[in-house]
Amino acid sequence: MGGGLYRGYLGFRRRVIMTKKLYIETVGCQMNVLDSELVVASLRREGYELTDNKTDADTILFNTCSVRQHAEDKIYSALGRLKHAKRDHPGKVIGVLGCMAQKDQRLVFQRAPYVDLVVGPGQLHQVPRLVEEARAGAEQRLEVSLGRKEGARDAIERSHESFDPLRDPAMRPTPYQAYVRIMIGCDKFCTYCIVPSVRGPEQSRPPREILAEARQLASEGCKEIILLGQTVNSYHYRAGERTTRLSDLLGELQVVEGLERIRFITNYPKDMTDDLLAAVRDLPKSTRYLHVPAQSGSDRILERMKRGYTVSEYREMLGRVRDWIPEVAVTSDFIVGFCGETDEDFSQTCQLARQSRFKNSYIFKYSQRPGTKGAERFPDDVPEAVKKERNNHLLALQNAISEEDNQPFLGRVVEVLVEGPSKTARKRQPATESGHVDGPLQLTGRTLCDRIVVFTGNRRQVGQILPVTIYDANALTLFGTVVTQHVGPELFTLSTGNLSTGNL
Ligand code: SAH
Ligand code: SF4
Ligand code: F3S
Repeated sequence: MGGGLYRGYLGFRRRVIMTKKLYIETVGCQMNVLDSELVVASLRREGYELTDNKTDADTILFNTCSVRQHAEDKIYSALGRLKHAKRDHPGKVIGVLGCMAQKDQRLVFQRAPYVDLVVGPGQLHQVPRLVEEARAGAEQRLEVSLGRKEGARDAIERSHESFDPLRDPAMRPTPYQAYVRIMIGCDKFCTYCIVPSVRGPEQSRPPREILAEARQLASEGCKEIILLGQTVNSYHYRAGERTTRLSDLLGELQVVEGLERIRFITNYPKDMTDDLLAAVRDLPKSTRYLHVPAQSGSDRILERMKRGYTVSEYREMLGRVRDWIPEVAVTSDFIVGFCGETDEDFSQTCQLARQSRFKNSYIFKYSQRPGTKGAERFPDDVPEAVKKERNNHLLALQNAISEEDNQPFLGRVVEVLVEGPSKTARKRQPATESGHVDGPLQLTGRTLCDRIVVFTGNRRQVGQILPVTIYDANALTLFGTVVTQHVGPELFTLSTGNLSTGNL
């Protein structure tokens, strides 16, 4: 809204209402992106407008992550930079939300005494009220869920409230894609990981709610939904005699009109059951993409991580995935430099990465998290320089594989769901006020196997599924040209020779 003013008429009296401005910064995983979307939606209802300028904002929120030290440092330094802003404008409300709020609790107030709110991820429904109270001059407020040892499981579960019904299309990755939470929490307790403590016990949402949300999103024009869970393939919802698993849920979602694609992240290797693989293979709207983090290629390290599988079990699972779904793309996460990781352990990780040929891998240097079993049991004894070197080495190895595996796409036609202007285009050609830019535009989208495709098109094509011929590829991106629609079927065959159109 221009100038931050909303002019409304009520009878004969003209009321001028100042819109309140909200700045929100989000770090962390897709769960956090979704949480921010929902917090923004709830504050818009209270008359807030988003701003990307902290100086203008009446309320500044940070939705935080604790998975690695670096993510926390980033937020504490951003908070540090607000010290003077708060001194000069004491009415500004500053809130810390999400996983670091749950983990650090009052420590946030100690490190940044001018913070007004600290709200854990299980308490986000309280944000609008807490912000209003803070604006009215209330004391500092801490609203968090129970810790994993602070009560009976039931009570702990109830204290982590999933906050899902409110959606704000403007906050989605694109209006055509949306995250849908199907689970909250995690019960796996990998020894390095803070997530089970900050996100609470694993709880699956009722299928009925998920379906209703998917229908709502599709009716708003959404083409792809991305189902979210820390271990999404562990999804199971019991009602009486009946248990709904992820494969059943995928089946039920197929009939939602308007939805074209359904993705889900992140999978836990041990729970990759055959019924799920069959569903991914057979259901037309399921993408042929599975993120199944291996974390390490050494049995000794996997055991220390308490991942619950051996390297050969992981390989067996991957073999099954590839047997069942021939055109599948699999991606992984790896942690390098976990406690006690030797050169030999690391070389086994490289070997697993080399043999598994993941589409790509996210590689992280181990970051010790206070409160985890890993921090309690094992010294963080791999020097930072070694972690860095291993990280770079594995990254280079993975990039070479990714680039090589993208080469067979050259000359092929792939089906791309167009997501929007590419990063370069967004920088070069900011949208006009109406949000439209005429003329050719560099666009980005994804194939059914989650490969990123960049090509030239126009804004009207955003949200469509288009055939694109690939002419170049690097490790992370395919480059292509749209197969133009005025080319008839015969001409198309002639002009494209032996190109194949597949479900990619
Ligand atoms: N639930 C997902 C991942 C959650 S965290 C899963 O189980 O796969 C995302 C990734 O961060 C993890 O897969 C792991 O590779 C990495 N990670 C988690 N804790 C970490 C830590 N303490 N240090 C470094 N990387 C970590
Ligand atoms: Fe963390 Fe392991 Fe749970 Fe993933 S499965 S969120 S890595 S504890
Ligand atoms: Fe971070 Fe919390 Fe996600 S710790 S990775 S934002 S669940």
